[in-house]
Amino acid sequence: MAFESFGDWIRHLEEAGELRRIREPVATELEITAIADREMKRPGGGQALLFEKPTVNGVVTPFPVAINTLGSWSRMARSMGSDSVDAVAAELGALVKAKPPSDLREALRLLSLGLDLRFARPRTVSRGACQDIVHRFDAPATRTEPWPAAPVITENSPTPSIASPTLLNLPILHCWPLDGGRFLTLPCVVTQDPDTGDRNLGMYRVQIYDDRTTGLHWQLQKVAARHGRRYYETGRRMPVAIFLGGDPVFPFAATAPLPDGLDEFLLAGYLRKKSIELVKCVTNDLQVPANADFVIEGYVDPKEPLRDEGPFGDHTGYYTLPEPYPVFHITAITHRHDAVYPATIVGRPPMEDFYIGAASVKLFLPIFRMNFPEIVDIALPAEGVFHNLVVVSIRKTYPMQAYKVMHGLWGMGQMMFTKYIIVVDAGVNVHNTSEVLFHLCANTDPERDSEFARGPADVLDHATSEIAVGSKLGIDATKKLPGEGFRRPWPPLIRMDPAVEDRLRSLGKL
Ligand SMILES: Cc1cc2nc3c(=O)[nH]c(=O)nc-3n(C[C@H](O)[C@H](O)[C@H](O)COP(=O)(O)O)c2cc1C
Repeated sequence: MAFESFGDWIRHLEEAGELRRIREPVATELEITAIADREMKRPGGGQALLFEKPTVNGVVTPFPVAINTLGSWSRMARSMGSDSVDAVAAELGALVKAKPPSDLREALRLLSLGLDLRFARPRTVSRGACQDIVHRFDAPATRTEPWPAAPVITENSPTPSIASPTLLNLPILHCWPLDGGRFLTLPCVVTQDPDTGDRNLGMYRVQIYDDRTTGLHWQLQKVAARHGRRYYETGRRMPVAIFLGGDPVFPFAATAPLPDGLDEFLLAGYLRKKSIELVKCVTNDLQVPANADFVIEGYVDPKEPLRDEGPFGDHTGYYTLPEPYPVFHITAITHRHDAVYPATIVGRPPMEDFYIGAASVKLFLPIFRMNFPEIVDIALPAEGVFHNLVVVSIRKTYPMQAYKVMHGLWGMGQMMFTKYIIVVDAGVNVHNTSEVLFHLCANTDPERDSEFARGPADVLDHATSEIAVGSKLGIDATKKLPGEGFRRPWPPLIRMDPAVEDRLRSLGKL
């Protein structure tokens, strides 16, 4: 199912009973995120929230803020037009099974072929609702406007309209007390490889510095950072477009760990089952979805020094301290008449991003299985914050197979960031952390069954001695086979006799 705008998505959530409206003014400075943080931590992820009157320094803005709209299994599935994420994963799995690929890259290339066949290829159009209102900032900024003074808001204050939205009067959230300022937290960032023309869509947070400049937090190992390095090598200005809203599959696709060179719009088009219409930006040649709610256009100037970005209360549950990142110069802000500002807050799990990341794992599980047919299931528990902890169950048939799977996973895309991999046998439910811990404790001799490796680390990881470099621990919690250094009989797992249980059940005694 395709959504024509974020407002359309909000209406759908409301009809499904998945949305709560907050009608009174709430501040974009810490208040919206305080409410959203509590909501996201409710069992099952709570409800989506729509703040109808967000205030910026006390002034009500005309753009409502939507938050936690993807923060449950049901909302993740709805964003893909389905009842369940498992059903979407099964369909995608069937599509790529047609031709067995030899590795992940090949699998995803095949996936893109499959996607092409099915209305996934985007279409270029000449006009889009995302450009209903256009504000150009072509002239260089002569001053940095301070945030407007906070007027007193009474219940009957009229809702002002923003004649000229800037980064200073849009309802951009200040999430946590020690954050270095306001951040776009659900931005879809479009960049292009200057050599091949390949497009990339990635989600990288954006810190507001002033009305014309922001930070761009694309981390070292991400695709936009690679594009950026090419522009730094050639000294040419790098065009960048950031869009917010439109169809809710866009933010999901922007976070999906597709390999470099594969256009995330193909995945988004496939998931929404309708071609995405793309329109050219007004001040550069990049394309953005015509139905986006907001578009922020601009460039990075490689001749300019990097600037400290952060601190920011991050997915890890800790603040990420300031680190140098490129500066983004705004040349235009465009938006729909009826724009809704989409946001999230990340922090100590569980948060909305757990569902976004876990949906990715479900969707890509069939592709992992093509490389590792022994894999039964994979879970990234919320406590592990995306990829810190991976539990994988395998159908083990030969000695040391668990180690083959560990090393294979560490070599696959963003799985390189995984600090701990626990491998369990096929019968273990990887989504039940208590069950996993039972098998981990019961089935391992720590020295024999674990292995350290070294590799790239998540730049957000504050525990590594050096940024972006770290160690990994793999633990084989499967039943040991001859040849794995285990020389005793493996005892049976205690289970009640199913026949006895059935009889007792039929007698109403169980
Ligand atoms: C809410 C949210 C915020 C994110 N913020 C960042 C970020 O600031 N920087 C970053 O490099 N990755 C961030 N990520 C992860 C990337 O979006 C993810 O790694 C994605 O696959 C990157 O795309 P790429 O492989 O095309 O570079 C974020 C993910 C989510 C769900």
